[in-house]
Amino acid sequence: MAMIELHDVRHAFSGNPVLRGVSLSWDAGEVMGLMGANGAGKSTLIKVLAGVHPLQHGRISVDGASPDAADGPLAARRLGIETVHQRIDEGVVPGLSVAENLLFERIAQGELPAVGSLRGLLPAARGVAAGLGLDWGDAVLRRDVHELGIADQQLVLLARALSRRPKLLVLDEPTSALSAAETERLFGVVEDMRRGGVAVLYVSHHINEVDRLADRIAVLRDGSIRSEQTQPFDWSVAVRDMLGERGVRELAEKNDQRGEDTVLELRGVQLFAGSAPFDLDLRRGEVTGVVGLLGAGKSELALGVFGAQPFQAGTMRLDGAPYAPKSPAKAVAEEVYLVPEDRAAQAMLPGWSIARTASLPFLRALSPSGVLQRRKERADGRAVIDRFGVVASSEAQGVDSLSGGNQQKVVVGRWLRGRPRVMLLDEPFRGIDIGARHDLSARVRELAAGGSAVVVLASDVDEVLEVADRVIVLVEGVPRLDSYAVDVTRDRIVARTAALNGEDVA
Ligand SMILES: Nc1ncnc2c1ncn2[C@@H]1O[C@H](COP(=O)(O)OP(=O)(O)OP(=O)(O)O)[C@@H](O)[C@H]1O
Ligand SMILES: [Mg+2]
Repeated sequence: MAMIELHDVRHAFSGNPVLRGVSLSWDAGEVMGLMGANGAGKSTLIKVLAGVHPLQHGRISVDGASPDAADGPLAARRLGIETVHQRIDEGVVPGLSVAENLLFERIAQGELPAVGSLRGLLPAARGVAAGLGLDWGDAVLRRDVHELGIADQQLVLLARALSRRPKLLVLDEPTSALSAAETERLFGVVEDMRRGGVAVLYVSHHINEVDRLADRIAVLRDGSIRSEQTQPFDWSVAVRDMLGERGVRELAEKNDQRGEDTVLELRGVQLFAGSAPFDLDLRRGEVTGVVGLLGAGKSELALGVFGAQPFQAGTMRLDGAPYAPKSPAKAVAEEVYLVPEDRAAQAMLPGWSIARTASLPFLRALSPSGVLQRRKERADGRAVIDRFGVVASSEAQGVDSLSGGNQQKVVVGRWLRGRPRVMLLDEPFRGIDIGARHDLSARVRELAAGGSAVVVLASDVDEVLEVADRVIVLVEGVPRLDSYAVDVTRDRIVARTAALNGEDVA
């Protein structure tokens, strides 16, 4: 018998079947890669494994033992199942310090005091962070966990899971918030786990990650396992099994649409206190991709243009007129839009339907008389569902109950109906499956073709090359390369991103 056995696991939400009899098994020291389109049921399977959803049907065993269904997450943890869920907000505990979050289960189970001085917890917390190679000082450990960026919050959850020495480590899209360097760190951890005899379940939409880490893969489609493979994997088969007949179009050549007139001029803009000022022109009709590591200044650039956070210095002009938005509302009034990076916190309201969420940016336009036009709202919701293939029962479904990738499609897709002067998208492809990524890229390109200046900010070079005509590499707050995509190789972009050769703007 294998160390991990799932047998005929089924799950339904209010009568709607989502898992239709999943059986999988793998051994200690093996990494199982689980893949599938948005809404296939991956996270649901993980939540059943983790005891978050009670087991409705089937059997789960780890090392021959089965969890007691009545005990929920605690039973799963007792068996040695540690899970890092896809949504970070399902893992971090708001209002608590980083240290308390790192030690959360131990505090919850009474091994460590829940009240008393934070100082007493710091040595243990430092040890947990160090287990992931994080050298976090007391100042970081004392901060409220929500003051950390989402990448660091993700690292908190990983470090916590590792510190519990799991038999089965479950990672649901763990790299979606991480930069390249942190992703490498995570890969190292997974490889150590495998060597140490831990079984790993790894969910990702990134073929290169799964190809590198997994010993075997399973493809889930519509709640059923369609195929399983062992190394070496045939990815064309796996992708077909993920997406069905639809398949996926290969990117034949680079995009090369040249914009004409400048819409937005940045002059003497300084992103960080110590960084050099620079000028930048964004042109109508082209998609500009901005790549850079975490902390390179992508979000500072986007937030500054959107009026959400001032630049350290510098001025802007929009279609020739001075532009100095004091707030996002002012930017939106000038038709400058931003789809922010941290969607769960910034762009989604719990309890709202898809329809309401889809029309959120346009609420004012929808309610000229102050009364929401519900029919229009529903039509907007349906339009987003149709255009992006959102897996949902109807536009009335709550956004909260959508799969991670489908939430992403709704919050990004809702912006793509207007025709703004400037459209900024910060990490728009996060958590989106391969098929949906192609669809979204195509919509983003249509926006530029329709006359907007479009900026896509991302840390993944391949995502940027799929959508962009022009590529800018940001290093420590300064553009170090600015070129049309056709004039530069992928390798050169990667090298510049890591600041490997220090020449200036190409
Ligand atoms: N709490 C819930 N209530 C109702 N339906 C739900 C709930 N959670 C998930 N679903 C539905 O179950 C289906 C599978 O969702 P799940 O999150 O498991 O997909 P996934 O494979 O993880 O997708 P993604 O790649 O987008 O993360 C979706 O149709 C989703 O809307
Ligand atoms: Mg998921």
